Amino acid sequence: MTQAIDIFLQEIADIFAFTRKDALEMIVAFHEEMENGLKGKRSSLKMLPSFTRRPKGNEKGNVLAIDLGGTNMRVLAVRLLGNGKVETIGVKRFSLEKDIVSKTEDVFFDFIADCVSVFLKEHDLDFSCEVGFTFSFPVVQTSISSGILVSWTKGFTVEGVEGHDVVGLLSKAFKRKGLESLKLVALVNDTVGTLVTKSYANPLCDLGVILGTGTNAAYPERIDRIKKYKGPWDSDEMIINIEWGGFDRIKRTIYDEKLDRDSENPGNQRMEKMVSGRYLGEIARLIIKEAFNKGFFGAKAIKDYFSKPYSLTTEKLSLLASDGDTINASGTESISYEDIWAIKEIGRTVSKRAARIAATAIASVVTHMDRNLASEHIIAVDGSLFEKYRGFREHMEIMLEEIFQDSKDKIQLSLTHDGSGIGAAIIAASLSFR
Ligand code: BGC
Repeated sequence: MTQAIDIFLQEIADIFAFTRKDALEMIVAFHEEMENGLKGKRSSLKMLPSFTRRPKGNEKGNVLAIDLGGTNMRVLAVRLLGNGKVETIGVKRFSLEKDIVSKTEDVFFDFIADCVSVFLKEHDLDFSCEVGFTFSFPVVQTSISSGILVSWTKGFTVEGVEGHDVVGLLSKAFKRKGLESLKLVALVNDTVGTLVTKSYANPLCDLGVILGTGTNAAYPERIDRIKKYKGPWDSDEMIINIEWGGFDRIKRTIYDEKLDRDSENPGNQRMEKMVSGRYLGEIARLIIKEAFNKGFFGAKAIKDYFSKPYSLTTEKLSLLASDGDTINASGTESISYEDIWAIKEIGRTVSKRAARIAATAIASVVTHMDRNLASEHIIAVDGSLFEKYRGFREHMEIMLEEIFQDSKDKIQLSLTHDGSGIGAAIIAASLSFR
């Protein structure tokens, strides 16, 4: 039996392998998709203009930010000191329960407005300040303060928002809740916020990446290369929200295909479903289920523990990576050391591929900006996968080294905490400061 599971694990490792050759092929395909997206041609990368550029670092003021896009929502008040430094006046986290993210538009936006109200009262803050709104979904912006949601991702299904201006919907909720004096001046993707936050302090930063519940990145593009944008613009660069979760030119396994078919948004966000925190646990669960059905695992507890879709969260998978006993603690029957080892091995295989694909996506964007790596690039990265998943960052670094070899040191991954919300505040402040 031990031998059979070893063969199964090896087969899984083989089909999930993402080699240097795969990476180099992906970079070529990624460049093509980026170019097509910038020209407004058919592409799996939306390449969305953000109507903002990197800050100068001298922006000043007190601003409010709402940061929404994963399992939590945060409201924060910050003070920009004008020397690349930001002081947080207050921050509060609200959990976004399933019954909020699957309701109708009015219930959802009223909830956000209520959270803002609670925050302002608790911190005794002015109700007439400017607000930056980080909304981390694919939004086609029509200006810095308006944008239409293309489609929900990460399991959100709130009705009545797709195809509508999210700032308009939030403004209406503000009105219903007596918050009409708040001025929603900036609509920002979390990747744009992360890039802006890091580059407020360090001008060498030119890529913002999220590796959390979802995954995506934003970078400053030369305005003459954004062929699809014809409007006026007062700078030679504009930040582009790539929406790289949609990239679809990577080979998939039968497990990826099954996950996609059974998801809320089949056919969409293919790369995100291979890389991000919302999905890694589920891919591993599908493999574990298959192994159980093949008779490789002894304890029935494994079947019970892993039977429900999304019951194995990436957080649990990450815990397992460091401590196998989490299963036995909640199982009904004790699970053998060998079975736990095999489950951990499956988790390692799935997360290793994710990290290697994420690193290759970073390499793709960097070489789009700077083909021969003539300059240094600081990559601002936020998200629980990068920060907390054991071995994830290391696997990314190894992939970058395989791709760039001696030039690898030109690329520095830098953890940037809470950049998504702070970035929206910096952008909101920069609008009144210009
Ligand atoms: C969204 C992006 C977002 C990313 C990270 C994806 O699902 O489409 O807009 O930046 O998640 O939060």
